[in-house]
Amino acid sequence: MEGPSPTHTAPARLTKRLRLEPVGPARTRDLWQVHDDDAVWPWYGEEKPGLAQAERRARSMGDSWRFHGVHKWIAYDRESGEVVGRGGLSRTPVDDDWGQLYEFLPAEPWVRIAHSSQHPFTAHANWLEIGWALRRRFWGRGYASEIGRAALAFAFDVLGVQAVVSCTLRHNVRSRAVMERIGMRYVGEIRSRGTVEGVQGERDDAPFAACVLLRKDWERRRTTYAP
Ligand SMILES: CC(C)(COP(=O)(O)OP(=O)(O)OC[C@H]1O[C@@H](n2cnc3c(N)ncnc32)[C@H](O)[C@@H]1OP(=O)(O)O)[C@@H](O)C(=O)NCCC(=O)NCCS
Repeated sequence: MEGPSPTHTAPARLTKRLRLEPVGPARTRDLWQVHDDDAVWPWYGEEKPGLAQAERRARSMGDSWRFHGVHKWIAYDRESGEVVGRGGLSRTPVDDDWGQLYEFLPAEPWVRIAHSSQHPFTAHANWLEIGWALRRRFWGRGYASEIGRAALAFAFDVLGVQAVVSCTLRHNVRSRAVMERIGMRYVGEIRSRGTVEGVQGERDDAPFAACVLLRKDWERRRTTYAP
């Protein structure tokens, strides 16, 4: 086995209103609470996920925290302790749909370099994906942007990556608005499994809008990103 020991746990991070805890098996029920929300799960699949699926996801996210040093957080209200949502960063698999992002990133070697740990999968070393999902009752209060800004600070200032990317279905206007609100730049579209607006079911070539933030742009504008 490579990487940190199985007992390694990443510390929580605090933003103005949220406590961000790395997802692992112990947070299965909280993760499920987010993905069980009827305004959330249809963006991730055709069926409402059960607890067993949340368990698998939480275990896999915990593995990524251990071996890749990063994955998503569960966001709790700092005062009430309520589960607000989940979000943050993850490494993107090499040789996957994510390879379509190469054309939107600089033509430099760091883009294709793989992370030293091949557990739990072979991932890009120098750029990360960012995402968010909130329980419906917490929409419209800026929480996703708060998670997003904290994640960008973690990616660039703690992990030292070269870029952060984000992809969402073309018609997910709320998620696209978060990307723009936190300073990411729209670069074009990729195709992957998902839904098309107004069409029943999933297909393999659904259009996803892609946004990018490069390290140099983060450094230029970092004063506006305090979480
Ligand atoms: C995508 C998603 C996380 C966006 O949530 P959101 O609440 O719209 O986004 P934010 O948390 O950044 O909130 C922004 C809104 O809060 C308002 N707001 C209120 N108080 C605010 C504050 N203190 N700071 C910032 N914005 C604030 C903003 O004006 C904005 O309002 P508007 O949408 O009317 O323009 C949410 O719609 C969701 O969970 N969707 C389902 C899952 C999903 O699609 N995830 C993405 C898959 S790629």
